[in-house]
Parts: sequence; C-alpha cells; structure tokens
Amino acid sequence: MWFILIILFLATGGLSIPRTRYNNLECEMFDPSFGTFNECKLKVLGRDIVGLNVFATMNKLPILNVKVNLSLWRKYSGYRSFMFNTTFDFCKFMAKSDKKLSFQKVFIDMIAAFSNVNHTCPFEHDIIVRNLVLKNDYFKYFPLPTGQYKLQIMVSVDKRWVANLNVHAFIADD
Ligand SMILES: *[C@@H]1O[C@H](CO)[C@@H](O)[C@H](O)[C@H]1NC(C)=O
Ligand SMILES: *[C@@H]1O[C@H](CO)[C@@H](O)[C@H](O)[C@H]1NC(C)=O
Ligand SMILES: *[C@@H]1O[C@H](CO)[C@@H](O)[C@H](O)[C@H]1NC(C)=O
Repeated sequence: MWFILIILFLATGGLSIPRTRYNNLECEMFDPSFGTFNECKLKVLGRDIVGLNVFATMNKLPILNVKVNLSLWRKYSGYRSFMFNTTFDFCKFMAKSDKKLSFQKVFIDMIAAFSNVNHTCPFEHDIIVRNLVLKNDYFKYFPLPTGQYKLQIMVSVDKRWVANLNVHAFIADD
C-alpha cells in the first residue's frame, strides 16, 4: 500500500510543488525608430524566485500620450482570454489623485516600486523595470485558479500601437 502511494506521489509530481513564478517574457517594439528593448529577461534571483527585467531605450521623447491595453489569457490547450481585457489612458490614470481599485491600479501598484514609470506624464526617459518578482498577494482582489497565464501589455503612443510585452507565468492558488 505504501509503495503504491509513494509511486503515485512521484507520478503526480508531488515532490515539485508548483509555485507562482514567471516562466517566459517576450518584448516587441513594432516600430524600431521609436525605441529598442535592450533588455527583456527573467533572472533567477534565488530558489524559486524569478525577477523580471526590462530596459527599453526610447528615441522619441517626450512621451505625452500613452494608452495601455492589458489582457489576461489563460492556457488550456491554447490561450483564451480570461477575466480582463481593458484599454486605459495611462497619462490620465496617473494624474488621478485617488485611484479606484481596478486591474490597472493593481498593475501600477505591482510595478511601481520596481520601475521608473510611477509618475505622471510626460515621460522623458528610458523605461526600466528591475527584478520585479511575482507575488501571490497581487491576486488577492481577483484570485486566479492554478494554471498557466499570459499577461499581454500593449502600449500605444499618440494613437499608434508601438510595443507589446507578453509575461508568461505559472500561478499557484495556495
Ligand atoms: C476584448 O474586448 C473587446 C471590446 O470589449 C472585444 O472586442 C475583444 O474581442 C476582446 N478581446 C479578447 C481577446 O477577449
Ligand atoms: C486589447 O487588446 C486586444 C489585443 O491584444 C484586443 O483584442 C482588445 O480588443 C483590446 N481591448 C480593448 C478593451 O480595447
Ligand atoms: C507611486 O506614486 C504615488 C503617487 O506619487 C505614490 O503615492 C506611491 O507611493 C508611489 N509608489 C511607490 C511604490 O513608489
């Protein structure tokens, strides 16, 4: 009996407990004259700790008019749109003094301390995100079932889509 239980435990991957972490990152600039992603990578910072790092050089400054489209996708056999898909005016949002709870607020709160984007427009500098680690408390307002997800971040400047980032992560609902 014990033998069977142990075999089952091993077969179900019982030893490697799934943990919330990023597992892939893709960055694309649609128009190279607009900017370049010099860095777009996940860095292992410790056991089961993965930091997200992005450095985008911006050639056309200042940036005054930014829209961001955030969509979450969950993987089944392929990716399907899941829970949110929203476009918001980044400059107007950052100018608000009291930001209501929303997916965009959770997104900004998550990157604020690890990036140089937590300010109002204009943007007159390159965009940097350093060692942003995924934590389960980011999902306390919208708990996600355990699974593989993709957060797609599309950025438009002056009404043109200029860049796209896909953040792939495994999320463990524990
Ligand atoms: C996102 O929302 C828009 C408008 O609400 C809709 O037309 C579109 O099909 C949705 N896209 C996805 C991927 O769910
Ligand atoms: C956000 O972008 C997706 C494409 O990734 C698009 O299908 C969707 O319509 C956009 N959502 C909104 C609300 O505009
Ligand atoms: C982001 O900016 C807001 C408004 O200036 C500030 O209240 C908040 O503390 C900042 N967050 C971080 C993590 O720096």
